[in-house]
Amino acid sequence: MKITIESRPLESVETDALIVPVFENRPESRFGAEGLVKAGEITGKPLELTLLHHTDGVAATRVLLVGCGKAEKFDPTEQRRAAGAAIRHLKSRSIKRIALALDGSFSGPEFAEAAVEGAILGDYDPDVYKSDEKKTIASLIVLTADAKGVDSGRIIGESQNFTRALVNEPANKLGPLGIADAARKMAAEFGLECEVLDRDQMAVLKMNALLGVAQGSAEPPALVVLRYNPGNGNSADHVGLVGKGVTFDTGGISIKPADGMEKMKYDMAGGAAMIGAMRAIAQLKPAVRVTAFIPCVENMPGSRAQRPGDIVAAMSGKTVEVINTDAEGRLILADAITYAKQQGCTHLIDAATLTGAIAVALGHLRAGLFSNNDNLRDRVLKASQAEGERMWPMPLDDDYKDYLKSAFADLANVGGRWGGAVTAAYFLKEFAEDTPWVHLDIAGTAWLDESKPFLAKGPTGLPVRTLVRLVLDWK
Ligand code: BES
Ligand code: ZN
Ligand code: ZN
Repeated sequence: MKITIESRPLESVETDALIVPVFENRPESRFGAEGLVKAGEITGKPLELTLLHHTDGVAATRVLLVGCGKAEKFDPTEQRRAAGAAIRHLKSRSIKRIALALDGSFSGPEFAEAAVEGAILGDYDPDVYKSDEKKTIASLIVLTADAKGVDSGRIIGESQNFTRALVNEPANKLGPLGIADAARKMAAEFGLECEVLDRDQMAVLKMNALLGVAQGSAEPPALVVLRYNPGNGNSADHVGLVGKGVTFDTGGISIKPADGMEKMKYDMAGGAAMIGAMRAIAQLKPAVRVTAFIPCVENMPGSRAQRPGDIVAAMSGKTVEVINTDAEGRLILADAITYAKQQGCTHLIDAATLTGAIAVALGHLRAGLFSNNDNLRDRVLKASQAEGERMWPMPLDDDYKDYLKSAFADLANVGGRWGGAVTAAYFLKEFAEDTPWVHLDIAGTAWLDESKPFLAKGPTGLPVRTLVRLVLDWK
C-alpha cells in the first residue's frame, strides 16, 4: 500500500473511495447524508459502515461513512479500528485506490498514526498460500492538515504485519533456521546487527534447557540475536526483548491431542513479535539500547527427544526436572533470559504463547502481564493502554514457588493443575532473578479464531505496538 499525504477539501479528491468519519450525536449534513441520518440509517455508532455512490459535488467515485461512536469517547484505539474496518470493507469489494479523511477535531499525531496503522493492519490477510487473485489496496491518500504520525504509523503497521506474516507461516515453510534467515534479511534491510547462535555455540554456553527441547527434532535450533544501538544513546539502560520461538509445538513425548494441533504453528508468535518490534525500532530510532533474543526450536517427539523425568542443568546452573515435555516454552526462555542478562541487559521483557491457562483466566481479550518490578510493570501497562493492546497484571507471590518443587532437581518445569499461567511465569522469574522483568503471556491474544471487522482471522501481531511505544518513551 503506497501512502501519501494531502491537505485539501475532501470533495476535490479523485479516488475510488473516500473514507469519512461520522460521529454519534453530531449532525452529518455533507454528502447528502441528512436524509439517511433522519431515517436512522446512519447513526455514527462504532464501525457502522455506509457506502454512498456518485455523491453530488464529490470527485470520489464512492464515499464510505464510517461510524466512530461518541466524539467524547473517541481515542486512537477507536480511530485504528474505524480505519481498519473501512479498509476491509472496501478491500473485500476489490476497491484499490482509497483516500482516508482524518477528523479535524482530533488533531495530534497519535490519531494520524493510529489511522494509518489501522488501514495497514486492515489490509492484511493471511492469504499468501491462496491461489486467488489478491485484493490488496494499491494506494492510500491520508487527508490531513498535519502530517505528523503518518510515517511512524506506516512503519509500525508494516512491522506488525511483518510479524503476522511470520506467524502465519506453517512449520514446513518456516522452521528455526527460517526464522533466523528472516531476521538476518530484515536486519540487513534496516541496519541492525544480527547474530545467530547454532547448536554448538549454545552447547559451549551450557544452554541445556533449550537444547533439551530441540533434541527431539531433526530441525536444528537457533538463537537469534538482533541488536539496536542508538548513536545518541544517553541512557545506561539496555532493554532485552526475549520471545518464544517454537516453530511447532507437538508437545514432544507428552504429546498434544490431534484436535486443533495445527494451530501450534503460532507458538513462535512471541519471537515474531520481537523481530517485528526490532524492525520498527531500527527505523524509529529510540534513544535507548535494545537487543532481542529469540530462541527458536521445534518441539517434536523424535527418537532422541527428551523424556519426562529427564533432568537438565540450565545455563544459569539451576537444575530442572522435565515433568512434562509440553511445557517447553519456559525451558527455552530460561536460557535465553540468562543469556540476555549475561549480555548486559538491565531490563527484560519477554513475550510467549506460554500457557493455555492464560486464556482460561483472561479469555482472548487481554494478555497476562507478570513482573518482578512494579515500575517496569506500570510502564508496560501504560504503553499497552495507549496502543490498545490490552493486558492485565497477574500475581507472582513468593509462595507460588512451592508449586514448582521437584524431589530430584532445583525446579520442576510444571506446577500442577492450578494457576498454570502463574506457575509458568514463576518459573521464568527464577531465571530473571533480580533484573527488572516483565513477562507477557500472549497464548490467548496472539491469534484470532474469528475475524473482526477491522482484523483478519489468524495472527494479531500483539504486542508489537506496546514494545515499540515502551522503548520510544523510555526514560
Ligand atoms: N504452546 C503451549 C501453550 C499454548 C496452548 C499456546 C494453547 C496457545 C494455545 C505451551 O507450550 C504448552 O503446551 N503449555 C502447556 C503447559 C502444561 C503442560 C503445564 C499448557 O498450556 O497446556
Ligand atoms: Zn507446549
Ligand atoms: Zn509451546
